[in-house]
Amino acid sequence: MNKIVILRANPRQEGYTRYLTDKLIAGIAGSGTEYRDINLVGKNINPCIGCYHCWTNDEGICVHNDEMTEITEHLAWCDVVLFATPLYHFSISSLMKVVLERTLPITRQGIERGPSGNFRNLLRDNKWKGKSIAVLCAAALRGEHLFDGVEKTLELVAEGIHFRNAGLLRRPETYLLQFALAKPKTMKIIETGLERAGYELANDGCFSQKTINDVSTTLAVDTNYFQMYSNIYWEHVGRDTTRAASVESIRDLVLHDVRILMNEFARSFDPVAGARLRTVMVFDFPDKSYTFRIAVKDAQYAFTAEDDLNADMRVTADSIIWAKAFTRELSMRDALMSGKIRVEGDKSLFMKLERYFPPPNN
Ligand SMILES: Cc1cc2nc3c(=O)[nH]c(=O)nc-3n(C[C@H](O)[C@H](O)[C@H](O)COP(=O)(O)O)c2cc1C
Repeated sequence: MNKIVILRANPRQEGYTRYLTDKLIAGIAGSGTEYRDINLVGKNINPCIGCYHCWTNDEGICVHNDEMTEITEHLAWCDVVLFATPLYHFSISSLMKVVLERTLPITRQGIERGPSGNFRNLLRDNKWKGKSIAVLCAAALRGEHLFDGVEKTLELVAEGIHFRNAGLLRRPETYLLQFALAKPKTMKIIETGLERAGYELANDGCFSQKTINDVSTTLAVDTNYFQMYSNIYWEHVGRDTTRAASVESIRDLVLHDVRILMNEFARSFDPVAGARLRTVMVFDFPDKSYTFRIAVKDAQYAFTAEDDLNADMRVTADSIIWAKAFTRELSMRDALMSGKIRVEGDKSLFMKLERYFPPPNN
């Protein structure tokens, strides 16, 4: 099995890169292989000054005497190095960049062509042969070209330092990773993919295409939804530095945001079960001062802004209760019977909601 070094290059310690890396490491640990989990934050690693001292002495010694010595030893020990980095300005973090710069002593002066035909420098020592480099990159945005910079960097650097390119795991839309209630299936695909990624690095030394695809599975069905949910996340952060620093600290707020839950509830509408349904429903959440009106007709639903006096049913609940009913942690019937959810108007419609709007299955 491959020995793995994980180099954590994420400055934010409680962010999504950490969350994703922890999942991947669970897969590595489960494989039973040896691994080292190294955090680059706080390490004294100076940028390369381009003096080429490492090329002008036979041992490849760098002029800097800092903690890169320890990292180089880890690189010599491992078969696979995995960098975990956030996407910063469409590129790798400077924590990762500085380590890559300092791998210059792996090579020496002299030019040859690599396997792809690109020119590169010679390898200093055979002990560096047969190693692989992989990257896990987390990004807030989404888009076709989001990871192009990282992908190209990985490809060229891998060849440049004579490592095999073990693959790039991309995770866009990070701020939507907290919508586990709304997207349980997709979250499962992503998390299982991350664990499998760790297992694959240990056993195969690279990521499979299926794993790469699974980890980057889209969470937002369309761009409006992506924008809306990302903005809700930042609304919860507000001006609170603690919340900005730690995604865990606002997890519950995001998870139970009634705007997301209502949106997902409406989206779960089953046009077959509700084919003949024609109704206007109002949902009131006094604890959050939100009211939603959903009109259903012709097997379609729509949120409506009209203050409709002719609503067939008016549901009033605390947002947290609704979150439980939405995920079926609490049955709608029990919620109604116990008075946790109040219903005015057509109670029989309420009892059929579970059928018209089945539990989230995406
Ligand atoms: C300086 C800086 C630059 C960033 N640039 C990008 C970017 O170019 N594209 C993007 O999708 N996200 C960008 N982000 C957002 C991060 O990728 C995002 O926070 C992601 O969740 C990974 O970081 P985390 O581990 O801190 O959560 C940037 C964040 C910072 C702080």
